[in-house]
Amino acid sequence: MLQETIARVRAEIEAADLATAEQLDQFRIAYTGRKGQLADLFDQLKTVEPTDRRAVGQELNQLKQLAQARFEERQQQLEAGAANAPADPTFDYTLPPVPQALGTRHPLSLVREEIVRILARIGFNVAEGPEIEDDWHNFTALNFPENHPARDMQDTFFVKSGGADSAEAKAPASYLLRTHTSPVQVRVMQAQQPPIRSIMPGRVYRNEAISARAHMMFHQVEALFIDENVSFADLKQTVYYFVQELFGDDVQVRFRPSFFPFTEPSAEIDITCLICKGAGCNICKGTGWVEIGGAGMVDPAVLEQSGIDPERYSGYAWGMGIERITMLKYQIKDLRLFTENDTRFLRQFESLL
Ligand code: DAH
Repeated sequence: MLQETIARVRAEIEAADLATAEQLDQFRIAYTGRKGQLADLFDQLKTVEPTDRRAVGQELNQLKQLAQARFEERQQQLEAGAANAPADPTFDYTLPPVPQALGTRHPLSLVREEIVRILARIGFNVAEGPEIEDDWHNFTALNFPENHPARDMQDTFFVKSGGADSAEAKAPASYLLRTHTSPVQVRVMQAQQPPIRSIMPGRVYRNEAISARAHMMFHQVEALFIDENVSFADLKQTVYYFVQELFGDDVQVRFRPSFFPFTEPSAEIDITCLICKGAGCNICKGTGWVEIGGAGMVDPAVLEQSGIDPERYSGYAWGMGIERITMLKYQIKDLRLFTENDTRFLRQFESLL
């Protein structure tokens, strides 16, 4: 009898296990779908005695509503993800979430950006050049003559093309990993006439054994100012400004006579030791001063080689080590920390962002 079938189907619908989306779908196909049992029951309604038909019809409609209500309620729950929540009743939903740790900027990047900001305020722009440089830009154009001992000062990684036995590999190498950022000066002057006011931060390479004080890869920032009537006084004032902005007003600067092939006169720039404030300690080897870079007036021969008229223009340049500056600023004692990527070291610079 139809009523009995309705009662059985009702019991089935009430008891149906709808834990998963798959079970819910099977439920829909079996009961409420177009070819489901309910459609079938509605079809059979015409076999019921006309006197009973109304009552049975009502019962069937209620059953259909029940099935639909179960289906929709469960579908909403599943969509809201409630069914995926961990079943563990001891889980404490009030616990704070596990923090997603953000990375931090590398101390060398922070210092490079600070240097760029300080010099941008007085009109310097940023220029870049290749790390694989040719011999001419790295040495010749900067007044390092062939076979000049100055070339030995910077132990160079030469780059050769071709296989070991090829003709190129046997010829003297004309490419190298740049040993300083000074070749970028030449590239800037070749590309542009004065006034030039540029800084050139970048990575440089030297064939050195790695230790706490030396590395085969480090960073420099070069500065170049070329215009009419530029003098050593301009260089000194700019370096004073730069050092005070970077390290603070109480740090002193001194220029020590030196030699570089591409500047005349040349000087080394020292600042008072930040650790002992000039009293003398093992960082400054008891002198109270530490070197941060080299500087000088661009040699007229370098201007000429780079396409700038030395009769009309003069200029100054400097080059400083970014690692050196960073070590002094944050009292870091071992260069190797910069490349080891130990997060216990790198995380300490988070607060400087
Ligand atoms: N290029 C030099 C070095 O790596 C540093 C230097 C000295 C750069 C004097 C300059 C400069 O621009 O004028 O040791």
